[in-house]
Amino acid sequence: MSIEIDLGGKVAVVTGGSRGLGRADALTLARAGADVVIADILVESDAAVGETAERYGVLAQAAVAQGMVRTESTAEEIRAMGRRSLALKCDITEREQVDAMVARVVAELGSVDILVNNAGTLDHVGQFHDQSTALWERDLRVNLTGAFHCVQAVWPHMKERRWGRIVNMASVAGTLGGFGQASYSTTKAGILGLTRTLAMEGGRHNITCNAIVPGIIGTEAFHMASAAMNERIANRTVFKRPGEPEDIANAIAFLCSDLARYITGIELNVSGGVELFVF
Ligand SMILES: NC(=O)c1ccc[n+]([C@@H]2O[C@H](COP(=O)([O-])OP(=O)(O)OC[C@H]3O[C@@H](n4cnc5c(N)ncnc54)[C@H](O)[C@@H]3O)[C@@H](O)[C@H]2O)c1
Repeated sequence: MSIEIDLGGKVAVVTGGSRGLGRADALTLARAGADVVIADILVESDAAVGETAERYGVLAQAAVAQGMVRTESTAEEIRAMGRRSLALKCDITEREQVDAMVARVVAELGSVDILVNNAGTLDHVGQFHDQSTALWERDLRVNLTGAFHCVQAVWPHMKERRWGRIVNMASVAGTLGGFGQASYSTTKAGILGLTRTLAMEGGRHNITCNAIVPGIIGTEAFHMASAAMNERIANRTVFKRPGEPEDIANAIAFLCSDLARYITGIELNVSGGVELFVF
């Protein structure tokens, strides 16, 4: 007997899937059989995409300038696999937009069974005294409040169907601390508290909630950072190299499957052992 990850008949929402890990997650969940909705503030056909990026920070601006926004084209790739897919513009910090997005998913695709809280901000870098209040607040709103909004919106649907999978993106910056990443590391530590609490409250409804703790993964954002810094971090892993987006996506697909039905409230390191004492 062989075992396989089969997400056929499930509808997944991946936030922040215009590029990077979210895009890889969306493609992998679809390969495993799920219908997938990608919700992102950046959508390529949106006339206001440049303006949105301007408000969002340096990574978003670089993504637009370098043609890295692939929300709709990823949904197109998923439809070409024979799955249903939607690319929806949604700012997860705005509760009304999240509610509208989830209502549309349920109306058009029939349910929402899987939520991957992937959208995040990674570009507020600087030692504590140099961190700005505006970016601190942005990071809390996107990385924590945004995840809270998304869970609140999907929870009643999962509860009603007595099946749900929630995966939150944490980081080793949240478990270990991150030099020059005060706001980011604080939000990623916070998401672990939310994960464990949702695991406890979800059990009675057959909803699991787990966190992925990535180390350093070779996304577009990674390749935009300084090569010397990337090399230093990669050298702290036991493999001496960054992970690939599919390493994260595969772990998420497993946690969303029935194979993981008794796993909840965990922090799954997908980090190449960066948290180990390597020398
Ligand atoms: N890449 C890594 O090495 C790494 C390591 C640890 C954790 N993570 C986490 O994984 C997740 C994805 O990382 P990535 O490297 O792909 O980042 P990324 O910056 O490439 O992608 C983030 C995505 O979130 C979207 N987004 C930002 N704010 C949003 C909002 N308010 N509403 C909707 N969408 C929004 C962006 O448009 C983008 O598509 C993040 O939560 C990040 O903290 C990444």
